[in-house]
Amino acid sequence: MEPSKEYLFNHKGFYFVTQGATPENIDALETFEIRDSDIFIATFPKSGTVWMQNILNLILHEGHRNGTEDVENMDRIPWLEYNFRNMDYAALPSPRVFATHLPYYLTPRDLRNKRVIYVTRNPKDVVVSYYHFTKIMSSLEEVSDFSLFLERFLAGKVMGSSWMDHVTGWYSHAQDFNILFLTYEEMKKDLRSAVLKICNFLGKQLSEEEVESVVRQAMFENMRKDPRANYEKMPGHREEDGKCLFLRKGTVGDWKNLMTVAQSERVDEVLKKKMESLPIKFIWDI
Ligand code: A3P
Repeated sequence: MEPSKEYLFNHKGFYFVTQGATPENIDALETFEIRDSDIFIATFPKSGTVWMQNILNLILHEGHRNGTEDVENMDRIPWLEYNFRNMDYAALPSPRVFATHLPYYLTPRDLRNKRVIYVTRNPKDVVVSYYHFTKIMSSLEEVSDFSLFLERFLAGKVMGSSWMDHVTGWYSHAQDFNILFLTYEEMKKDLRSAVLKICNFLGKQLSEEEVESVVRQAMFENMRKDPRANYEKMPGHREEDGKCLFLRKGTVGDWKNLMTVAQSERVDEVLKKKMESLPIKFIWDI
């Protein structure tokens, strides 16, 4: 049941991947200097982080680039706690955008009252996406048996720790941040409305054509074709033709293809116990 120390380490009650983070770096984030213009994307892994990175990239920068500029999402919107490219974050131009899987209590002190977009996804699709992800990432321990992976996930013994604690933590501390909550499922159902919500949150005015262009480029099939957006150069992936297959299916309800009825009921039971009081309605299928 315990995750292998080769892949994960626990710091202050939270599991990090050993490749890319150290306890010292994480502690240093507490005093990381935040600008008023910064934007954070916070998620539990596999909830649509890279999708949101692409959407923000398009909303904030597409007006300034002619569509041929070759900057990857990972460079434009780096990971706060995993500085894969050894960037000097203090030298980045404003508005900076960071992605993070940190729980609310490990984020920089100065992030209080600053802008955060928190994306949730129904946990059955999260765990199935996560299970497939362990197969393509050399930085994660591959667990071949899904029922074992599910138990680890429910026990919070994965990178990102407990899905329930992550989501509950961010929701119950919403008043500490200037936060926009979005769900993967609402983005999937009506991407245009989600893009408009984000623009509104950021105070960004886009023309009708620009909104259409963001929506078009953020659709799964189009993102998959765009090497700037599809994370095919993700560090630490198990090679498949030299490319990372980060964008796998991009659907709602894929859990039904893997979970047994008993496993699905097991998740329902845990959720009922732990999350009943939260204002979240899960969408299991669309
Ligand atoms: P699947 O494995 O179910 O396909 P994260 O970026 O937080 O790790 O989340 C990854 C999940 O988001 C993957 O789910 C990935 O395919 C999905 N995703 C990425 N871009 C997407 C898009 N444009 N539309 C729908 N899903 C997307």
